[in-house]
Amino acid sequence: MILVGIHRGGPGGMTIVLETIGRTASDGRAGSGAEGPDGPSLGVLDAILTRRSVGKVRDEAPPRAVIEELLLAATWAPNHRLTEPWRFWVLAGDARRDFGEALGRAAVARMAADSDKDPAAVFAAAAAKALRAPVVIAVAVEPVVAPKVVELEEITAGAAAIQNLLLAAHARGLATIWRTGEPCYAPEVKAYFDLAPTAHLLGFVYLGYPAGEPPTRERTPVAAKTLWLGWPDGDEDGDAFPATATRTIGA
Ligand SMILES: Cc1cc2nc3c(=O)[nH]c(=O)nc-3n(C[C@H](O)[C@H](O)[C@H](O)COP(=O)(O)O)c2cc1C
Repeated sequence: MILVGIHRGGPGGMTIVLETIGRTASDGRAGSGAEGPDGPSLGVLDAILTRRSVGKVRDEAPPRAVIEELLLAATWAPNHRLTEPWRFWVLAGDARRDFGEALGRAAVARMAADSDKDPAAVFAAAAAKALRAPVVIAVAVEPVVAPKVVELEEITAGAAAIQNLLLAAHARGLATIWRTGEPCYAPEVKAYFDLAPTAHLLGFVYLGYPAGEPPTRERTPVAAKTLWLGWPDGDEDGDAFPATATRTIGA
């Protein structure tokens, strides 16, 4: 497993240890301006490597200007044929309660006819989920229907926009978690956002200031997911790359 360890140093300081590639980067915030041997994108790379899904956040909402910036980052995601298929709803305060009621209605509608649960309790539990962060950003894609526009590409563009948003939030010291689950596909929730049946609710980004340390997570090594084709077997020093990474198709 690749371990990306995050050590918190002095006040707000953070050191990222990338054990497998032996690089140590300080401060995982994008835009740190670090200029590394790989070029000027080091700050973005650090943000990618240190972003974690964080569910526990404090009560106070980040300023609207910061959220505007995150949305701007989202809208600079790549999108085929420049369809810009994404839509955002930024919920705070009591708007989250209205959204929670939609979650509650969806949960009750989903209850099995023979369920012995109390519908009021099911409603309340689902509705409370909308209050897990001071800001909830719902993201949907309304696929453009036009010649040569592929619906899957509209959805993937929307996912790229969400990832931009998550990274930008992380760069600004905010915690996020992208949540989906049944509510994304529930007619009651789609109706709350006035979405047509053809639209896709891609998820809800719960956003706030982090409460506590981010979780540590692991990823499968790149070599287990990658084939290198047309590359030499070893690096410039003559050291062999792992066999799995240079396997030839059909071998
Ligand atoms: C499309 C999508 C849907 C997700 N839905 C949920 C969810 O409903 N609940 C949740 O706790 N996390 C959800 N996540 C977050 C993943 O659990 C999280 O990304 C994963 O555990 C890896 O952790 P990391 O983001 O910190 O690297 C979702 C992520 C994606 C991409």
